[in-house]
Amino acid sequence: MKIAMIGTGYVGLVSGVCFSDFGHEVVCVDKDPRKIERLEKGEVPIFEPGLDMLMAKNVEAGRLSFTMDLEMAVTGADAVFIAVGTPTRRGDGHADLTYVMAAAEEIARVAKDYVVIVTKSTVPVGTNRQVGEVVRNANPSLDFDVASNPEFLREGAAIDDFMKPDRVVVGVQSDRAAEVMAEIYRPLYLRDFPIVTTDLESAEMIKYAANAFLAAKITFINEIAALCEKVGADVKQVSKGMGMDNRIGNKFLHAGPGYGGSCFPKDTKALARIGQEHAVPMQITETVIKVNEEVKRRMIDKLRDLCGGSFNGRSVAVLGVTFKPNTDDMRDAPSLTIVPALVGGGAKVKVCDPQGRHEGEALLPGVSWVEDPYDATDKADLVVLLTEWNEFRALDLKRIAQNMATPRMADLRNVYAPVDAERAGFDAYESIGREGFGL
Ligand SMILES: NC(=O)c1ccc[n+]([C@@H]2O[C@H](COP(=O)([O-])OP(=O)(O)OC[C@H]3O[C@@H](n4cnc5c(N)ncnc54)[C@H](O)[C@@H]3O)[C@@H](O)[C@H]2O)c1
Repeated sequence: MKIAMIGTGYVGLVSGVCFSDFGHEVVCVDKDPRKIERLEKGEVPIFEPGLDMLMAKNVEAGRLSFTMDLEMAVTGADAVFIAVGTPTRRGDGHADLTYVMAAAEEIARVAKDYVVIVTKSTVPVGTNRQVGEVVRNANPSLDFDVASNPEFLREGAAIDDFMKPDRVVVGVQSDRAAEVMAEIYRPLYLRDFPIVTTDLESAEMIKYAANAFLAAKITFINEIAALCEKVGADVKQVSKGMGMDNRIGNKFLHAGPGYGGSCFPKDTKALARIGQEHAVPMQITETVIKVNEEVKRRMIDKLRDLCGGSFNGRSVAVLGVTFKPNTDDMRDAPSLTIVPALVGGGAKVKVCDPQGRHEGEALLPGVSWVEDPYDATDKADLVVLLTEWNEFRALDLKRIAQNMATPRMADLRNVYAPVDAERAGFDAYESIGREGFGL
């Protein structure tokens, strides 16, 4: 199969590389000349474990290439995937479909033969039909189908998720498009990974429903964690006991500083908006969005308490600012709420993150960046563990406590146990959903 992939971000690049690894001939297109320039040189513009090797292997094999020339990529393609961003539209929470519709029109203008135009971006119900209209208007004689193929990969584990998915969802409206999609995903089908074939609207809805459900699950345990702190329960034990129930499952039950990232915040807002537009308010999702904001505010209160009631003049070390480990993605990370509150309150903030600096420098003004967690914590009044990178999972707590001005820790990912901090010499330690000490 010959595939054109429009957009070389986290989803487009990973999908393009993995499709080429299936044996398909893939051309990846982006509008951003800097990205294409780097990709052509063999550099990966994002941090995603394993992507550089897989990309190099498939470029070498002649199955994968990069270009800004859309016409060249689309000519002769069996399928053109749209994997551009769908951020929150300013003002109303709706998904901004400008990039998707622009890509659809551009494809229509250069396509000549039958092609399946596949939306991989996360888009509201009805978007694929709209894409069809845009293509028809731009090129009335073009023979084409649209298909919806939402992506479920997680940054940080994207290749594995793409290669070994729980399921692939494909929404189609013709047998011809279904055959093309089946051929593209045949390598997965042969290895017994389930392909769920639906109509266009159901495929679009599956993606939003799945993300809103996961955001709700995280938010639920975060709310339980707040109650645990008041009643003397330990949320780690509660999560474990709940997660062993097969009907619940143990994933997405880790209490933390609130969900963030490139998907959950914008997708929950978009689903809430779709509900409002159809007069079916998504009350659970709307509450999840509200509670998640409260979780982040609660974290700031926790940090302020650890600083003795005010951030003013305090030195704070922040370990981890990306929205989760193993990615450089900072979109809607909890750090973007928490760190400005520290800086705004008059704290001197040192930040350490294995991959976050490139994106984070522009997003977190007023902080200083250091490479080493021990430099960050040297003479600090408080250390905040905000993202659970492996690099921060086995720190020498004794060394840190000895070198801090006041050894206090906010472990917002429950990486350590209170007893570890106590033995290391911390005089105050707070985590999420369990009793700390020193306050
Ligand atoms: N990031 C994730 O973990 C994830 C997971 C599942 C689904 N999604 C969804 O996938 C979509 C893409 O997300 P992302 O994180 O990869 O976005 P991204 O912002 O990282 O990448 C989008 C890319 O598209 C390019 N682009 C925009 N318009 C273009 C055009 N007309 N022609 C060529 N290139 C164009 C941009 O330059 C950019 O490189 C979104 O809808 C998102 O919700 C993302």
